[in-house]
Amino acid sequence: MSRDYPRILTPPPGPRARAIVDRDREWSAHCYIKEYPLAIARGQGVMVEDVDGNRYLDFMAGIAVASTGYGHPVVVKAIQDAAANFLHICGSDFYYEGMAALCEKLAAIAPGPTRKRVFLTNSGTEATEGAIKLARYATRRTAMVAFKGAFHGRSTGAVSLTSSKARQHAGFGPLLPDVHHVDYAYRYRCRHCAHKSQCSLGCVSSIEDELFTRHLDPRDVAAIFVEPVQGEGGYIVPPPGFLTGLRELCDRHGILLVFDEVQSGIGRTGRMFACEHEGVEPDILLTAKGLGSGMPIGAMIVRDSVDKWKNGAHGSTFGGNPVCCAAALATIDLVERELMANASVQGERLLAGARELMSRHDCIGDVRGVGLMVGLEFVRDRVTREPAAELVDRIVDRAFRQGLLLLGAGKSALRLAPPLVIDAEDVDRGLAMLDACIAEESQ
Ligand SMILES: Cc1ncc(COP(=O)(O)O)c(C=O)c1O
Repeated sequence: MSRDYPRILTPPPGPRARAIVDRDREWSAHCYIKEYPLAIARGQGVMVEDVDGNRYLDFMAGIAVASTGYGHPVVVKAIQDAAANFLHICGSDFYYEGMAALCEKLAAIAPGPTRKRVFLTNSGTEATEGAIKLARYATRRTAMVAFKGAFHGRSTGAVSLTSSKARQHAGFGPLLPDVHHVDYAYRYRCRHCAHKSQCSLGCVSSIEDELFTRHLDPRDVAAIFVEPVQGEGGYIVPPPGFLTGLRELCDRHGILLVFDEVQSGIGRTGRMFACEHEGVEPDILLTAKGLGSGMPIGAMIVRDSVDKWKNGAHGSTFGGNPVCCAAALATIDLVERELMANASVQGERLLAGARELMSRHDCIGDVRGVGLMVGLEFVRDRVTREPAAELVDRIVDRAFRQGLLLLGAGKSALRLAPPLVIDAEDVDRGLAMLDACIAEESQ
């Protein structure tokens, strides 16, 4: 079947995009990153069209958000219907069916047998922030453990747990005290057991053997925050046993285990939540990004036994907005019915294709992934594993100019995270385009 994308009519940014970029640069805050000059006009499925009529194949889904693709008719209809009824009443103070239904649904799909309760937010950051507060409130302890390379958000509490890029902390201190960052199960760059043929989960045991022995009394620790697949850190899939090891560690010391599935949740890994691959139940689970197909909504799903806070202890004016709830309910339904299975099938194809690229390009040092969450790590040299950050930037830029939307992650990784509606033809097409970009840039 021939498709009308990608198609580059005018080298981007074309004149209309350039005008928007210039205007935006004039007035928007300096802190915005703006990866490349894409000025979107509309989208459909996995296709994004810019204001000059160029069409792109999207392999990043607006940072893993456009789960059902662009303009899914079921989601759009749900949003339109909800918007026609009412836009707001404040779910923290009043009632409406969409909010009750979404809390019920999220509690039902959350992993593990225990009963859950749900707090709805506007973003992943707000979900993290709520979890920090609840963990302290429920345990009456203050310390937090998080992982190097983690990204949990940008508000002062959430960014204290984030350990992704120094510039995200610079100038904002002092941040939240008593936050301790430990090694993630990053097999490719592990200082504990990468040199061994088998991972012995030295990163988990070192929390007890090093941190809890020399530095921090575990009785002071409220929670361990972890991404079951590390997102911004480079799409790093931990070895089996990692989450189980953390669960056991937390249980030994009465510490709450928080899974941040803001990026990895809602079907992206082929299961509703990535932690289901290992069958580990957290005490608190955070989700956002793909939950609303692009509408701003997140959630903190909490074991009933942990949901100890009293009436009025926490709240949000916009969290659980009725239009966003409708988008989320429609999204979850689509993900359950078909997209989760599709993510699994197309994810395997994508991973196999990425491995094939690695077999032909020496600049790729590692490929890992689960479902439609695939990371390729670029190195200057496969032996020294020196990161090739500039090469990733050049590949992303070239791909954009040729009609493929990509995004970097970590020091020198590319993350492939297309909308969950992608089919085999577009997986292959994107891989072929990526192949050509790598070949052209790594010469
Ligand atoms: C794992 C994770 N947690 C939290 C966040 C923060 O979410 P938001 O940008 O919606 O505030 C992100 C965003 O990238 C994320 O990937």
